[in-house]
Amino acid sequence: DVKSMLSDLQNRDERLFVVTIVMMNFARTNQKLENTIAQISSISNRHNCQVKRLSHQQEQGLVSVLPLGVNQVEIKRFLTSSSTAVFMPFTTEELFIDSANSLYYGLNALSQNLIMADRKKLKNPNGLILGTPGSGKSFSAKREMANAILVTDDDVIICDPEGEYSNLVKQFNGEVIKVSAKSKDYLNPLDINMNYGDGDAPLKDKANFIMSMLELVVGGSGLTAAEKSVIDRCLPKIYQKYFEDPKPENMPILGDLYDMLLSQEEGVGRKLATEMEIYVKGSLNVFNNRSNVDLNRQLLCFDIKELGTQLKKIGMLVIQDQVWNKVSLNRGSKSTRYYIDEFHLLLKDPQTASYSVEIWKRFRKWGGIPTGITQNVKDLLTSQEIENIFDNTDFVLMLNQASGDRDILAKKLKISPYQLNYITNSNAGEGLLFFGNTIVPFIDKFPKDTMLYKLMTTKPEEAK
Ligand SMILES: Nc1ncnc2c1ncn2[C@@H]1O[C@H](COP(=O)(O)OP(=O)(O)OP(=O)(O)O)[C@@H](O)[C@H]1O
Ligand SMILES: [Mg+2]
Repeated sequence: DVKSMLSDLQNRDERLFVVTIVMMNFARTNQKLENTIAQISSISNRHNCQVKRLSHQQEQGLVSVLPLGVNQVEIKRFLTSSSTAVFMPFTTEELFIDSANSLYYGLNALSQNLIMADRKKLKNPNGLILGTPGSGKSFSAKREMANAILVTDDDVIICDPEGEYSNLVKQFNGEVIKVSAKSKDYLNPLDINMNYGDGDAPLKDKANFIMSMLELVVGGSGLTAAEKSVIDRCLPKIYQKYFEDPKPENMPILGDLYDMLLSQEEGVGRKLATEMEIYVKGSLNVFNNRSNVDLNRQLLCFDIKELGTQLKKIGMLVIQDQVWNKVSLNRGSKSTRYYIDEFHLLLKDPQTASYSVEIWKRFRKWGGIPTGITQNVKDLLTSQEIENIFDNTDFVLMLNQASGDRDILAKKLKISPYQLNYITNSNAGEGLLFFGNTIVPFIDKFPKDTMLYKLMTTKPEEAK
């Protein structure tokens, strides 16, 4: 025994500890006390250990058990590191990042310690929030964004298909932009800033966007080479005035592009102009105005609840473009958080799906932190782009899951059966948090008598 202990110490990096183990038992009556002690003795005997009563040493035992840092019990044993570690079965994985920008994500369900994390510390800050309806997805997103606004100076943008974020946004002095054919809030799709795009040619990237938009307008097989050339020729002309004198009144609008296309010699110019007429002079002309909303606020919410089917694709494209605008403006100076609720809707349609994947791939380098929120894991997982999205996501907040989804996710994210308990029939605001390689079960019981709760709840009777 001594030889093997010596070899442990010399070769296996073990240390020697002097250990005293004292347990304290409480009970209401003497009888109950005797019962539990008998129980404990029989369990430990079964495992070849002996439990001794501290007869005539009860006081010293009590003093040693209290967290005072004194040991008055003389019984000591020498144990190696690994043998000592056996007596601490309560170790849990913690997530606590001590940084000025850390945000609160609830309590660790095992240890009850605070979970504080900073997504910017991740290799890839992109995030997903998954859970069944009513499991607290939007609530978690709101809690994170409220925290981010109070703690950091990051900008926050929300894409809100249910029109449920406006109370919170207004309270934090943010701007709610209703995007719909009837709305009087205008967004100009031709808005450009000098930082737009990847390099030093903002117009090149803007031209890409305008082409994708016109592709949606003409539909079918998209733009022909001749049409693309004509558009490419027109764009520098309509931006010329703004580039010479960049004041808001000089920003071109769709009508300018329409007129310019009409005045081209080729027939394709007139054809394109006719095709976009409904968006300039017709009933869908909501995007033919200069922006009249304050896009410089720290908190922006695009409410697309009333965006009809006719405008859905173009509307989403215009919003994504405004998000890029903001991210490029903030690049290098601050982060931009972008929340997309009902994310699976965007992934259904190839055009918006490819735009979303673009965000997932490139946002990080620009200081962007996107978060997709969805109840529909199956839709999400069947989308063609899902591999690109999962591979680039290091933050997953997983709330209660439907049984089918749970199995798929368990395989995909390697969740152990024990961990699955935390996302099976769990209450609102409880689940698993994946943060890089760390997985912690969390509980967040948000106090209901607070102003924030009233602004964040979606239960109809409470929201009223
Ligand atoms: N952390 C929490 N603490 C206390 N209550 C919560 C918490 N999270 C959610 N809830 C309660 O659950 C309700 C539903 O939450 P939430 O609106 O986030 O659901 P959801 O998952 O977004 O559902 P849907 O998929 O239908 O949009 C909230 O209105 C709130 O009352
Ligand atoms: Mg929701």
